[in-house]
Amino acid sequence: MNILVVGNGGREHALCWKIAQSSLADKIYCAPGNAGTANIAENIPINVLDINKLLDFALNNDVNLTIVGPEAPLCAGIVDIFKKNNLSVFGPDKISAQLEGSKCFSKNFMNKYNIPTAESAEFLSKDKAFEYVEEKMTTASSIVIKADGLAAGKGVLIAESLQEAQDAISTCLEGTFGEAGKKILIEEYLEGEEASILALTDGNTIIPLVPSQDHKRVGEGDTGLNTGGMGAYCPAPVVNEDLMHDIKEKVLQRFLNGIQKENLYYKGIIYAGIMVTKDGPKVLEFNVRFGDPEVQAVMTLMKSDLVDIIFKTVNGNLNEASIEWFPGSAVCVVMASKGYPGSYEKGFKISGINEAEKMGSVVFHAGTSLKDGDIITSGGRVLGVTSRDININNAISKVYKSVEKIKWDGAFYRKDIAHKAL
Ligand code: AMP
Ligand code: GLY
Repeated sequence: MNILVVGNGGREHALCWKIAQSSLADKIYCAPGNAGTANIAENIPINVLDINKLLDFALNNDVNLTIVGPEAPLCAGIVDIFKKNNLSVFGPDKISAQLEGSKCFSKNFMNKYNIPTAESAEFLSKDKAFEYVEEKMTTASSIVIKADGLAAGKGVLIAESLQEAQDAISTCLEGTFGEAGKKILIEEYLEGEEASILALTDGNTIIPLVPSQDHKRVGEGDTGLNTGGMGAYCPAPVVNEDLMHDIKEKVLQRFLNGIQKENLYYKGIIYAGIMVTKDGPKVLEFNVRFGDPEVQAVMTLMKSDLVDIIFKTVNGNLNEASIEWFPGSAVCVVMASKGYPGSYEKGFKISGINEAEKMGSVVFHAGTSLKDGDIITSGGRVLGVTSRDININNAISKVYKSVEKIKWDGAFYRKDIAHKAL
């Protein structure tokens, strides 16, 4: 079958890489793709939000399955439009995508279906929000302010004093995040270790993938600014058997119950960002798509045919799927541009990718493009170098040996990815 992957990050390169190994896949298209997807798919220069052009492309090129990578087109309703045109598409519809697109929608859903999460309240006005944090900060040492809408991963502010909380409220409500911040959610600060639970659902069955862990802060030891993710690994040992049992019962099963009761159309991935607190797992957020860079590690560890599984999800017979994994662990180290997650320069020539792959890693491209036959940087997160091994120590040393082969002006990476697993 012909498959269209929508997106241009490391997540989409990892998906194309896995799809390319399937005997069910004939032609793979990636829109718009990057220099990495260009090696295994045909890149189609259509923006992820140009839904009508994507639809025309799928209709005119016998696309049998479309897999949507990022949240923005899902929240904009790509699934609704493809479905209306009788195209098979992997992802939730526009209303369901609000589970990621609106933190308030998501929180209301969690509360209604008794999914454990931080206590919170929503606000449209500064006065009421100030009153709330004043009261909360008499006992709490930190509090979390979230812009309701999509803010490219920047809409969560953690305040460690009343003053910081008030500043964060003003920042959101006064328009720093545009429409996304017109409404805010203020929530209790949760302490613990984070884990990412990605699960496939066709609306009737829900199957978790191997648990993974992202590294959100830019600096070693989880210091510095929040990023889109500086590295990931799986399986994450913090999610032991008992905890997984708890997550299945209190998060995934209740999620499934909720989408059924609300009559939500959902055939895709639900990603629960979990905080493992002393009171058990609590959901920090839902995302309605694969995590990036989690999926780079997860695809590397997956043994089963992804296309078969996704097709079963879209067709509503996920109950017939069983997902097999390679033994051991997979580790993905993100190499980024100097200055990221702040401003950075682009256009630097990258060398050493082939040498890195010879060391036994897969190099997933995120922010790269081709210029005069060279691979150049074109984003903040540039590459996701990924290794798998039966032994996590070996996976870590293999991945860093590969990373050391890759050079460009201003490249940097965290040196402690997956150390929590040791
Ligand atoms: P979110 O986009 O809601 O997942 O938030 C991004 C990051 O902010 C999370 O991965 C956490 O590291 C942090 N965060 C969000 N909500 C909370 C919370 N209630 N308590 C502590 N940290 C949080
Ligand atoms: N790795 C975090 C995310 O995909 O949202």
